[in-house]
Amino acid sequence: MTTSTSSTKQKTIAIVGGCGHVGLPLGMAFAKAGYHVHLLDINAQTVAMVMGGKMPFVEEGADALLTEVLASGSLTATTDTSVLKDVGIVIVTIGTPVDEYLDPSVGTFDAALHTIIGQMSQGQLLVLRSTVFPGVTDRLGRQLSSMQKNDIDLAYCPERIVQGESLHELTQLPQLIGGYTERAGERAATLFKSLAPTTIFLRPVEAELAKLYANAWRYINFAISNQFWVIAQEFGADFAKIHSALRQDYPRMKSFARAGFAAGPCLLKDTMQLGAFDHGSFVLGQSAMMINEGLPYLWVQQIKKTYDLSTMNVGLLGMAFKPNSDDVRSSLSYKLRKVLILESKKVLCADPYVQDPQLMSQEDVLAQADLIVIGTPHDCYRSLAFRQPVVDITNTISSTR
Ligand SMILES: NC(=O)c1ccc[n+]([C@@H]2O[C@H](COP(=O)([O-])OP(=O)(O)OC[C@H]3O[C@@H](n4cnc5c(N)ncnc54)[C@H](O)[C@@H]3O)[C@@H](O)[C@H]2O)c1
Repeated sequence: MTTSTSSTKQKTIAIVGGCGHVGLPLGMAFAKAGYHVHLLDINAQTVAMVMGGKMPFVEEGADALLTEVLASGSLTATTDTSVLKDVGIVIVTIGTPVDEYLDPSVGTFDAALHTIIGQMSQGQLLVLRSTVFPGVTDRLGRQLSSMQKNDIDLAYCPERIVQGESLHELTQLPQLIGGYTERAGERAATLFKSLAPTTIFLRPVEAELAKLYANAWRYINFAISNQFWVIAQEFGADFAKIHSALRQDYPRMKSFARAGFAAGPCLLKDTMQLGAFDHGSFVLGQSAMMINEGLPYLWVQQIKKTYDLSTMNVGLLGMAFKPNSDDVRSSLSYKLRKVLILESKKVLCADPYVQDPQLMSQEDVLAQADLIVIGTPHDCYRSLAFRQPVVDITNTISSTR
């Protein structure tokens, strides 16, 4: 291979899981930064959607950028794994869920990596971007050696964006780089410096733990606020007022989270991954799960003190796991719906962002419900006029954010 073809190859990237919430914005950001990016995904429907210029989920600034990078030819999407052979860099962003026992479900991830490595050759850079169980990168490094593929450079570089604002954050956040070797770390740092202001070097296991600590830390902080909310209820006190009073001109409480549903595809799952790594003795994480996951039950008990739900049609507004998003993965609004179904005459659900045949239109819910419960604090709910009483779980209507 000539030097110029080799340097062209170094500017080509395949992103495995490339049409997902992490892979797609990352791919678009690299395409904009001058790389040629192939998004490789097993979901043929999403691949076709992306190639047709349509974003499969809500992401700020992504619609215009997708059109731009498709038109320039710097980004393509495919289901064909043979692209892995022709690139300089492979980035893995596939999901890493926990199983029904809340243990990391490593089998699928291992199988995917087996396929990926089977297609890769010496000299390529392999970056793990998915959130992984601690020790996965070092184990993969040892596997590469035993497969005589130790000239593939391996690094773990966790994704730390907040979903929905990836494109902005990818250019703002420092990137953690955990190279399996020094050379792998340097190559990964060069890659991420094309997007980010700073790179920070850690050992792979430190970078893996750093990512899990970040999510577990947030999850535990939400649990603290939710536990304080429960205490306030017991004393007939207004948690939102206490929260606001404590944060006013008092710097040490600025990071005090609001009470509300702590859900979504990452926080609980990653706290449980850390718990599994700690051989099940991560007491703080387990307690946080009990508090956060118990919140829908506690809210229904609270609502029942004021309303006879058995005689009421309850309208639940907001099914996504976070505001102004269409993502329902692990949303606690769905758990709240289940509990409300047990207690109410009827439960009617709506969300302007979410496509789900179980949902109704917002107009119908507002027309038919005797009581409204706001599950997700979408901004658009602030301007609604309600003719019925409203249970405002996250203080959406009354607070300014
Ligand atoms: N969503 C977030 O905000 C976020 C933030 C930081 C880290 N993470 C981590 O990033 C990883 C991905 O999360 P996500 O939210 O993007 O998941 P996702 O489900 O949105 O995307 C994963 C994509 O991978 C594809 N895929 C699955 N198996 C594949 C395979 N074998 N080959 C090719 N494609 C495959 C799926 O079709 C999907 O499009 C997870 O480990 C998650 O914990 C997510």
